[in-house]
Amino acid sequence: MATRSDVKMVTGKINGQDVTVPAGTTILEAAREAGIEVPNLCYQPLLRPWGSCRICTVEILGKRGGLIESCATPLGEGMEVLTHSEPCIDARQFILQMYLIDHALDCPTCDKSGECYLQDNTYLHNVNTNPYRRPKFAQPYVHFSDIIDYKWDRCIMCNRCTRVCDEMIGVTAIESSYRGMDAAITPAFGQSLDDTACTRCGMCIAVCPVGALTDRHFAHHPWELDATETICGFCDVGCTISVESNKGIVRRVSHLWERGVNHGYTCEAGRWGHELLQNPDRIFYPYVRDEDGSVYEVTWDDAINTAAETLAHYQGDQFAAIASPDSTNEEVYALQLFTRAVMGTNNIDRMLTPSQRSVEMAVRAGLGDDVSNTNNMQELFTDVKAAMVVGPDIGKAAPVASYWFYHSRQYREAKTIVISMDDFPLCRRSEVWLNPKPGTTATLLSGIARAIIDKGLAKGGSDVTGYQQWLATIQNVSVAQVAAETGVAVANIEAAAILWASGGAGISADADSYPPALIYHTVAHQGSVSENDYYGDPAEIAAACNNLAFLTGNIGRAGGGVAAMRGPANYQGATQMGAHPSFLPGGASVESVADREAFGTAWLDRWAEKAKTRNGFLPVRSLPTSLGLSRDELIKAIDAGGVKAMVIDGTVAGRLQLIDPELGAALDKLEFLLVLDSFNSPLALKADMVLPKAATLEKDGTLTNFDRTVQRVRATVPAMGESKPVHDVIGMLSERMGYGFPVMPASQIMSEIGRLVPSYGGITYSRLERSGTVTPATSFADPGSPILVGGPDGRATLSLAYTAAV
Ligand code: SF4
Ligand code: SF4
Ligand code: SF4
Ligand code: FES
Repeated sequence: MATRSDVKMVTGKINGQDVTVPAGTTILEAAREAGIEVPNLCYQPLLRPWGSCRICTVEILGKRGGLIESCATPLGEGMEVLTHSEPCIDARQFILQMYLIDHALDCPTCDKSGECYLQDNTYLHNVNTNPYRRPKFAQPYVHFSDIIDYKWDRCIMCNRCTRVCDEMIGVTAIESSYRGMDAAITPAFGQSLDDTACTRCGMCIAVCPVGALTDRHFAHHPWELDATETICGFCDVGCTISVESNKGIVRRVSHLWERGVNHGYTCEAGRWGHELLQNPDRIFYPYVRDEDGSVYEVTWDDAINTAAETLAHYQGDQFAAIASPDSTNEEVYALQLFTRAVMGTNNIDRMLTPSQRSVEMAVRAGLGDDVSNTNNMQELFTDVKAAMVVGPDIGKAAPVASYWFYHSRQYREAKTIVISMDDFPLCRRSEVWLNPKPGTTATLLSGIARAIIDKGLAKGGSDVTGYQQWLATIQNVSVAQVAAETGVAVANIEAAAILWASGGAGISADADSYPPALIYHTVAHQGSVSENDYYGDPAEIAAACNNLAFLTGNIGRAGGGVAAMRGPANYQGATQMGAHPSFLPGGASVESVADREAFGTAWLDRWAEKAKTRNGFLPVRSLPTSLGLSRDELIKAIDAGGVKAMVIDGTVAGRLQLIDPELGAALDKLEFLLVLDSFNSPLALKADMVLPKAATLEKDGTLTNFDRTVQRVRATVPAMGESKPVHDVIGMLSERMGYGFPVMPASQIMSEIGRLVPSYGGITYSRLERSGTVTPATSFADPGSPILVGGPDGRATLSLAYTAAV
């Protein structure tokens, strides 16, 4: 199997222009690379060629030439192609006339009017008469579900919808049914769509080139809408979306094909999650809660005055703050800055579930830094030959990332192994699905490690913390014993070990040539997306995944590595921004004199000479030296009356439930709790003061996805009510307390981050206008570091422990 380094190239001529592309590239795609647009209807980027509509017909010159569909024909060496010759245009006009015989042609009432490929092509090819006609057949709308309508007489049977559902989403919830004039798209097996495995991703609507599949929640013409490109804030995949609004209200989220880490693909949350913006639970104005529980709205001025006066009583370790791992980098940076430079304590952390905390611990120990992905998701398109997916349903944890596994299987013949107690489509499509007994996932991974060693497939190693002890433990493991404990047969454990460790190649004499293999695990989602309650200790599972990658030499290798999916949209960024009791931004240590000095010099000069000092509140002249409280210590300190006041930034995931119920219960003992939130969440209901926070689609900033890619978030509509981004609130509060961190544009905050955090040194808003940048990117000239620890085409290291492993 070819990897990207040994792909054969071919050169042909398209419209007289030499075009060189990898062998196998279709003429249509080669033409696009050369800037030549060939009309198409059934072609869809990333899906297999279908070749049914023939609109993409081109002419190949030469003896054996003629008209041929360009989307399904590879460009050959020396081939000469014309895309807009007279025979091509004639053929396309004829094909369009055929379509138009039976098409509904109800453009005035069609949602798709204005962005319909059939309408565009009819216009483009000047098809204004049709010699072919007969009485039209018509059928009423079919409501596939509460979100999808199907209109048969607009359908051109291009099968983009069924292909995307099958090939990319992996569920085959819809299919092409019947034949001839009765041909139609229906839910699988004629059931209701709700009874199929439909994930409600809406991708069938997105790919439909005409108005046959439509969004039942949408009722506008596209030309009435203003579109803004931004990043979805619902998970750490970080999909690029186009948010379309009218009169300040988001009416639709649509795709931008081939843009962003998701190439235009989204999931249900990405497509319809915007409806939360108008949720009745949104908070519009600041409010305070009296001791008797009654609430009343206050002005921002009054709220900031009261908050500043009150917090001034709790400077130092009586104060703690918790940042939201789905707030922007700029917001998190501002909150940790306030905590350290104004409140004078390192009591700052992120709001995480117990599983997320355990995974963080294991990743830090095993990799030397808390990286969500050592590699880049895009390698599933280029290098991955075998993949192990461990934990709760990845289709729910990181939907668009899950799509790429199906793609990798389909187009790169990658082999997949799933270890999960959940039953989701990838389990059944994979070569191996292991379903261990509750709580035994780490044991099963040990069994796989043992089988890898026994079969002579181990070829790596490491001296990172815990690896050697783990290896010693593995020497005592028996695969038969693991089989008995996990309920997974020995043969299946061995099959998984061989398939994965050999990069899908199977055992061969030349072990050094095994293709790369990666691991994605979702165990941080235990207890949230999975109906199965217990995979086992998340830290043990995460550590075992890291160690398997070391054992097989898959760290620092394109197509290898480990991804520890966490969930919140900016988990990686919030961690890098210093929302951590032990780490300043960029992973600098709070205990290091040099690090404290570097940040102190930048931060502490902002204190006004005559900053207010009453109530014992003083300007912070040097950054706090002791570690902040860990989550367990924080709960104890609140219980004991040590921590008395807190500021907490609410999360989207906490809209309906407390993210950490034990910590949530402790909050009742605080003397003062200030919550910033977009919704009247269970957390907001505990607060003495609630400040309305702008949602992701309502503010400017950046998010760092699980690949460490920093991407630009843009305000797509005005913030609801008087909501503000967290950094504006911190700016108002800081100024009121005598600290000169005023309200400023998010881009200015990122400039400061870039100056202080080496791994963000190359991040600027102007650069992000073009596309995301993978961190570490230390300067504008630095292209970014998709693979941590240099492999053949990798670069950059994050930590000493990590480097030592190579
Ligand atoms: S919404 Fe998604 S899963 Fe459901 S039928 Fe359409 S493409 Fe398939
Ligand atoms: S519903 Fe749309 S995408 Fe599906 S076959 Fe018909 S025209 Fe093509
Ligand atoms: S996969 Fe995640 S980032 Fe992408 S659209 Fe879905 S929720 Fe949003
Ligand atoms: S786009 Fe090529 S046949 Fe449809």
